[in-house]
Amino acid sequence: MGNYDKEINRRRTFAIISHPDAGKTTLTEKFLLYGGAINLAGSVKGKATARHAVSDWMEIEKERGISVTSSVLQFEYDGFCINILDTPGHQDFSEDTYRTLMAADSAVMVIDASKGVEAQTRKLFKVCVMRKIPIFTFINKMDRDANDTFELLDEIEKELGIATCPVNWPIGSGKRFKGVYDRHKQEVITFSDTEKGTKEGETRHIPVAGREELDTVIGEEAAETLMDEIDLLDGASAEFDLEAVQAGELTPVFFGSALTNFGVEFFLQHFLKMTTTPLPRKADIGLISPTENDFSAFVFKIQANMNKAHRDRIAFMRICSGKYEASMEVKHVQGNKIMRLSQPQQIMASERKILEEAYAGDIIGVFDPGIFSIGDTLCMPKEQFCYEGIPTFAPEHFARVRQIDTMKRKQFVKGITQIAQEGAIQIFQEFNTGMEEIIVGVVGVLQFDVLKYRLENEYNVEIKLEPLPYEHIRWIENKDIDLTKLTGTSDMKKIKDLKGNPLLLFINSWSIGMTLERNEGLVLSEFGRD
Ligand code: G4P
Repeated sequence: MGNYDKEINRRRTFAIISHPDAGKTTLTEKFLLYGGAINLAGSVKGKATARHAVSDWMEIEKERGISVTSSVLQFEYDGFCINILDTPGHQDFSEDTYRTLMAADSAVMVIDASKGVEAQTRKLFKVCVMRKIPIFTFINKMDRDANDTFELLDEIEKELGIATCPVNWPIGSGKRFKGVYDRHKQEVITFSDTEKGTKEGETRHIPVAGREELDTVIGEEAAETLMDEIDLLDGASAEFDLEAVQAGELTPVFFGSALTNFGVEFFLQHFLKMTTTPLPRKADIGLISPTENDFSAFVFKIQANMNKAHRDRIAFMRICSGKYEASMEVKHVQGNKIMRLSQPQQIMASERKILEEAYAGDIIGVFDPGIFSIGDTLCMPKEQFCYEGIPTFAPEHFARVRQIDTMKRKQFVKGITQIAQEGAIQIFQEFNTGMEEIIVGVVGVLQFDVLKYRLENEYNVEIKLEPLPYEHIRWIENKDIDLTKLTGTSDMKKIKDLKGNPLLLFINSWSIGMTLERNEGLVLSEFGRD
């Protein structure tokens, strides 16, 4: 007990949340660059593979045996051991993206300075808020024309409902971007063009107290504007409060330009000081401390059929306490079995590496012969507890599934139920019928193709998907509600999940409010819990 404090306390495990194109990949690359994990010309993942079309996606999975979306990157920086969890975006956006956030201790939110808060950021942000994890904001692309800085902060506060505290402040943007002002050191850090990060920049640090030097370097007008903005900012913005940051109530904001490397190391240094060590996790027996308990972990993601010949799956688990050593015996609580985790791996971009040891905060991927489910707990054989389950996240796309050959009913039901159990899709039924009518819900539309492909290839069943117009689903929290008496809107549809729990589908988000208004006491949730 407590023997691994040093290793565990130097770990920082976070996810980067953003809308596609805000610069998540670029920022990740730059983190690795400063961590020395790649060289200047290196790249985390080729653009071509990150932006492939649906058809290639299947090919890539087959060829590499692993999806580019499953990466967890680990690197060292300044004595810290950093785990970055990749949250798949673009076409790969799925429920897994949300689940990944359940394994992180904090989140870095990347925002494009000319676009502000965008749809995907908003969705991922909600999950971080639900978990009350610290959120750090990096406002990117300052080398391009940006929105007004005060307006950007206002948008974050209003749209996301979190207070902001700028750690640095930009001086101009686009062609007139001069650098940032470090509020703590009260100095300006100048920007110099690195030609998209291909050469070293020449950065100067100029104290604002000596106005003369500042005027010469950034120009009198820019210096004057900066002084006014600093005054305004000091009067208006929230005070820095580490406790509020760690409770997820205040987001420190940084400005920079990932492409030109500007502001990235500054961010990394401050972020590492402010974010948390691996957090304790809730279990049915209380909070489990990462340093005071022996090995324990929970499964947050299952990646199926990476190698079709072996039908293998990989279960990704987040270590929550203690140390994992290869060949150690552990208990799979839900399966009530003592086992050795076979071939624990760390998945570094597209390469797999067999691991000898790992600590709380780390993520490992283990071969799963089909025994694990999302949310399962692993602990030492002598212990017995379960981590709090992972919620079901609201799908946004729905389709009715029809079987082309009705003779293959059994395979169809088996296939679709198994795929749903792995967590790739969610299945529902009409409220008053059985399995004859199945409605599938997915978080990302690509999952529809995955479902069709897998049913054909693994279960030999052809299906037709008829898209349904619903975009919003809500779980009903009231256990005692009489659904026949519920007065909804004309676009509302009642459905049930496989356990018979009732849910509501809506075409318009407006109707959700109407339904709540019309049914006093009704409680609807965007997250489903068992
Ligand atoms: P994502 O992972 O969030 O989807 O974004 P990604 O890093 O792939 O960046 C999206 C685009 O934005 C890329 O351009 C990237 O070069 C550019 N970008 C990222 N950070 C900055 C920045 O600080 N300043 C500027 N000006 N651009 C930035 P692309 O044209 O789509 O790709 P590429 O051809 O440049 O590789």
